[in-house]
Amino acid sequence: MTSHQKPRYAVFGNPVAHSKSPQIHQQFALQEGAAIEYERICAEIGGFAEAVTAFRAEGGQGANVTIPFKQEAFALVDEHSERALAAGAVNTLVWLEDGRIRGDNTDGIGLANDITQVKNIAIEGKTILLLGAGGAVRGVIPVLKELRPARIVIANRTHAKAEELARLFGIEAVPMADLNGGFDIIINGTSGGLSGQLPAVNPEIFRGCRLAYDMVYGDAAQAFLNFARNNGAAEVSDGLGMLVGQAAASYHIWRRFTPDIRPVIEYMKAL
Ligand code: ATR
Repeated sequence: MTSHQKPRYAVFGNPVAHSKSPQIHQQFALQEGAAIEYERICAEIGGFAEAVTAFRAEGGQGANVTIPFKQEAFALVDEHSERALAAGAVNTLVWLEDGRIRGDNTDGIGLANDITQVKNIAIEGKTILLLGAGGAVRGVIPVLKELRPARIVIANRTHAKAEELARLFGIEAVPMADLNGGFDIIINGTSGGLSGQLPAVNPEIFRGCRLAYDMVYGDAAQAFLNFARNNGAAEVSDGLGMLVGQAAASYHIWRRFTPDIRPVIEYMKAL
């Protein structure tokens, strides 16, 4: 069998060389006992739709989409899942039998599964603080809401953006400088960590906090997680489990096989 007879998947991004999705999906394929190809495709800015069409023509069967193409993917697809519609962004492409493309968004499930199934922390009934109001945060709000927390509060450096998402999703916006605690779960969805910056919050907000979570993983999460731990968060976590979880949900959409994310999180940590 030549390699191109294997089912082909890919992640589209720019840049994308750092993406861990190929290793993660190959671990899922091992669990399934299947052989797949999963490649990284760096699409040119402005050339996303063309790159997707070319991949499809070469036999691609499904794809993930990462920064900066999630909104373009939303515009490109012919049909949206409810989650993708609510999030306004698409991270999973599925080709339907009639050739149309369906777009889904598994980021929220990835985050929720990591918190509730891997860390065993319930979201139902809890008070959740979301820091940031960009695409990453918007993408996870619909799934968090489905899990029926007591409250979701959103705070952002530019308060007007937090207010906009609060209106859209029926959650509460609080100016960042006014936050002063009472949160069970605090999720950092700002991109500041990538340049070593912390959101300007009162350290008191972490007192009594059960879990502080950063949606990015590795070094970029460490400043926030140290800050949270040093100020009273009982447990801290980077977003590796979210990454593996969103990948698992995409894999299930394509192949109807449900990967076990725990051993894959451990495998990725060890790499
Ligand atoms: P993403 O797709 O990763 O969410 P984005 O849509 O550009 O990226 O959003 C980035 C988020 O990180 C925004 O909420 C941004 O705050 P502003 O809306 O005020 O720009 C936030 N952010 C980026 N750098 C930050 C910093 N140094 N401190 C606090 N918030 C920051």
